[in-house]
Amino acid sequence: MVVKKKQIVECDLIDVAFGGKGLAKIDGFAVFIDQSVTGDRVAARITRKKRNYAEAVVQELLVPSSMRVDPPCPYSGFCGGCKWQFIDYPHQLEFKRRHVAESLEHIALIGGTTVHPTLPSHHLFGYRNKMEFSCSDRRWLMPHEMNTGADISFALGLHVPGTFHKVLDTRACLLQPETGNRILNTVRSYMRASDRPVYGLRTHEGFWRFLMLRHSVARDRWMVNVVTAIEDRDAVMPLADLLLAQFPEVVSVVNNITARHSGVAIGEREIHLAGEPALTDRIGPFEFEISANSFFQTNTRGAQQLYDTVGRYAALKGDEKVLDLYCGTGTIAIWLAQRAGEVIGLELVESAVTDARKNCERNGIDNCRFILGDIKDTLETIHAVPELLVIDPPRAGMHKDVVRQVLKLAPEKIVYVSCNPATMARDVLELKAVYTVEEVQPVDMFPHTFHIESVARLTKRG
Ligand SMILES: C[S@@+](CC[C@H](N)C(=O)[O-])C[C@H]1O[C@@H](n2cnc3c(N)ncnc32)[C@H](O)[C@@H]1O
Repeated sequence: MVVKKKQIVECDLIDVAFGGKGLAKIDGFAVFIDQSVTGDRVAARITRKKRNYAEAVVQELLVPSSMRVDPPCPYSGFCGGCKWQFIDYPHQLEFKRRHVAESLEHIALIGGTTVHPTLPSHHLFGYRNKMEFSCSDRRWLMPHEMNTGADISFALGLHVPGTFHKVLDTRACLLQPETGNRILNTVRSYMRASDRPVYGLRTHEGFWRFLMLRHSVARDRWMVNVVTAIEDRDAVMPLADLLLAQFPEVVSVVNNITARHSGVAIGEREIHLAGEPALTDRIGPFEFEISANSFFQTNTRGAQQLYDTVGRYAALKGDEKVLDLYCGTGTIAIWLAQRAGEVIGLELVESAVTDARKNCERNGIDNCRFILGDIKDTLETIHAVPELLVIDPPRAGMHKDVVRQVLKLAPEKIVYVSCNPATMARDVLELKAVYTVEEVQPVDMFPHTFHIESVARLTKRG
């Protein structure tokens, strides 16, 4: 059978592919179907047809898979925030483990690597310590809101996959603790009532751009970061006052300002409006100060499992030199410092390096130092070969110049931490010329999404 765009096809789902879509085969031709899972039988509408595969959406669920559960969130199936709520948790964990293993097999071209069962997240909901909600002048309506006369000129919430300019007016997100939802709704009411316009993601005009919330799990305290297009203290200061008056849990309100068109909630400038300038949280025995724009693992309890795994794979004896690439606020460096001689962290973002230094002081750690700059440039300045290299790059993985420099430096051991199995596998494809991947531990930091964090232990051959 030849599959055509807009055609409705009946098919059985045989697997879930990397990226989270269900996989069906029609006369051997691969069809990736959104919001479906192994064991489903569906009538699907083809939305895209390529030479080797097609994409489709479920038109009707004919026979539901035994892996299906009722998603508790009303936005499930519409919101891009978490797309796997309908799959039971044990199967989510196994799909993630397999995706890590398959990435190594198909991209890094190494078979038989030990990929351990995924470590589950302690909390399945309310686990995120950071949420970013977008403002938009075009609201995406849920089916029950159609033809109700609902105002579509304002939204504050999460994106619908496939549209960049329309946003759900999210009243509650189950991935954040409940107080976050109350803050979200207070900010929404304030923005709606204000005389400053909401930002248009197509027109790039308007004032209110994003709301970013951070939660300290250890202290149950919140930071509110309001992102606006221009500086206008008269517009944001009363909101800061309102939040502090209404929420005893809110200890910090900041305002990031960005004129960039990109959909990234990071300002070129930050104004500290009220309370503390940063939030403090704890992972294991250590306290960390986190600024609005610094990277901090988004699942605090999951971070402890992740760093425990890093510590186990590092297996330090006490006098080693460790290099921590992409060190963020110094969390891994601090985690390893007591069992190392010296740890040097390399990081691009200035506020993260400032936080990293403060975090060392706060935790009484005096054998870490941090170098600010792009690793492409700063790694060249390191001449002494460390015993251990920790690499924890962003989703895009390592720049190819950095991979080249790592191979030149060639430490005995590498612990590679990754939030993207595909780019980890791409980097391993280069590193395998010198290194063996001994084992990989996936750690689930992001339940109900297809994202997976993993830690790989690499040793130098020969
Ligand atoms: C996945 S985070 C890891 C942070 C830290 N290891 C942790 O666990 O919190 C990646 C970090 O790499 C930094 N980064 C991204 N590109 C970089 C580059 N070219 N050079 C240096 N650091 C970079 C980001 O600012 C971010 O802090």
